[in-house]
Amino acid sequence: MSTFLILHGPNLNLLGTREPEIYGALTLAEIDRRLEALAAALGVTIRTFQSNSEGALIDALHQARDWADGVVFNPGGYTHTSVALRDAIAAIGLPVVEVHLSNVHAREDFRRRSLLAPVCLGSISGFGWQSYALGLRALAERAAARG
Ligand code: DQA
Repeated sequence: MSTFLILHGPNLNLLGTREPEIYGALTLAEIDRRLEALAAALGVTIRTFQSNSEGALIDALHQARDWADGVVFNPGGYTHTSVALRDAIAAIGLPVVEVHLSNVHAREDFRRRSLLAPVCLGSISGFGWQSYALGLRALAERAAARG
């Protein structure tokens, strides 16, 4: 059975109260529960992890090499700044889907540039919690097609 890491970056622990007009009203725990249900329906398993620290996110990506078949990653604000996370994604050789709750292309100019997107399998932005669901579905179907 395929196993995937759902990785949440900085400030996503505040979902539910953080700028709900942009990020929606669901808490991170509610999003994770929905993703658990989707994973069960898709016949895959997930582990979820959130950190506000760049180093902890890098460590989680490194460790995922030992057990995960891919990563659904919302890097939050590090999307636009982190060479170190980009290098970690490139180093681990796992398929990583970059996801964003909001449509980063419809916001401030600085959000339109992702340092991570070029080393990810693909990017999904603007569908609220379903950005994660679409990313998980894409990884699960890709893994099933590859056997
Ligand atoms: C975000 C978009 C980022 O620009 C922002 O810094 C976040 C959340 C999103 O999910 O829409 O923290 O990744």
